[in-house]
Amino acid sequence: MNKTRRQLIRAGLVGGTIAASGVLTGIAPAGSAVAAEALAQPKAKKSLRILMLGGTGYIGPHMVSEFLRRGHEVSLFNRGRTNDDLFPDLETLLGDRDGGLDVLKGKQWDAVVDNSGYVPRHVADSARLLASAVSHYLYISTISVYASFAVANDEDSPLGTIADETVEEVTNGTYGPLKALCEKRAREEIGDDRLTILRPTYICGPGDRTDRYTYWPVRSMRGGEMLWPGTPEDPIQIIDVRDLANFVVDCVEEKITGVYNTVTPTGSYTIGDLMHDSIAVTGADMTPLWVSSDFIAGQEFEDAIPIWSSPEGETRNVASVSGDRAFARGLVTRPPRETCRDVVSWWRTLPAERQQSMRAGLAADREAQLIATWHQRKI
Ligand SMILES: NC(=O)c1ccc[n+]([C@@H]2O[C@H](COP(=O)([O-])OP(=O)(O)OC[C@H]3O[C@@H](n4cnc5c(N)ncnc54)[C@H](OP(=O)(O)O)[C@@H]3O)[C@@H](O)[C@H]2O)c1
Repeated sequence: MNKTRRQLIRAGLVGGTIAASGVLTGIAPAGSAVAAEALAQPKAKKSLRILMLGGTGYIGPHMVSEFLRRGHEVSLFNRGRTNDDLFPDLETLLGDRDGGLDVLKGKQWDAVVDNSGYVPRHVADSARLLASAVSHYLYISTISVYASFAVANDEDSPLGTIADETVEEVTNGTYGPLKALCEKRAREEIGDDRLTILRPTYICGPGDRTDRYTYWPVRSMRGGEMLWPGTPEDPIQIIDVRDLANFVVDCVEEKITGVYNTVTPTGSYTIGDLMHDSIAVTGADMTPLWVSSDFIAGQEFEDAIPIWSSPEGETRNVASVSGDRAFARGLVTRPPRETCRDVVSWWRTLPAERQQSMRAGLAADREAQLIATWHQRKI
């Protein structure tokens, strides 16, 4: 195999996938010369100048690649710590969202995509500085902004709040309210007529560093009896990172402003579907063991069950967020089996040591112990 093809496979640029990072793989990803060759094709009607705040993490590279594929120019702004060799031919402006934005001063772009804003002060600072430098600001938020999942949310639902708005530590508890505050700060600086806010649910696909989705097909591959949560009918919702990237570029090209949840259609996907996808994609010889949400709560392992949430109580609507507004503006979500297939293909390219350190889901010994407890309980 020639070097270019090997690089493409490592970077996930063949087989219809675009993996995010050398940081994940520990292998230098393909340079942009290679990427440009692989991605050349549709040219946008008008080439736009795009600034990415971030762009070298997990979701950013998928967006950058889609912008380039459609013929746009991209500048990156980051600290140079994450995958700094990912796009060697792109302009990279080195700085820090925390007080180090000077390198952006005096420059102009058509649009900025902010996918690295977690702290309201950082978003306020960049939005204020860029308000006169761009005509469009797109902020990547999250469905975690909603105040409650005991109700089914659309974009007009109440958002979570934080008592002390000066808090900047991002934890499981502050993440959602801080992102809601980031949205507010962007709105104050940019104004609704030039601002797009996207609220993705679990962003799944090649390059995902969290392993929250990846756990399911990869654990399935190990075979044997496998613990699955709740019932096969329990709903789940995801967004493929490439579908999100496509919609981001659509929003920028068509100047679609407003707030949009980016999710798979409500009721279209279940944890049972994910189980079938996992078997179909991997050919796993796996026997599912469905354990009740009461058992999961009683044994206190909800946190080790990614993507699925109990369809009862406070989490009962995590997977019924409305994406209708985005679908009406052109968001297209691919069949989830394609996501599963491409995640598995990407995972297989990772070094053995990375494959041995799954970052989400149940560890093998814990799962075995829970399975034993479940069987004893049923006797
Ligand atoms: N993963 C999900 O399921 C999910 C779901 C909903 C929403 N989201 C949203 O998606 C985004 C996460 O995307 P991601 O995982 O690809 O990116 P990320 O890890 O949050 O950000 C990485 C990018 O931002 C740059 N960066 C980080 N801190 C910086 C700083 N202080 N100053 C300048 N640049 C900085 C990094 O480069 P350097 O390190 O070189 O600076 C890198 O390019 C977030 O907005 C998150 O809220 C994620």
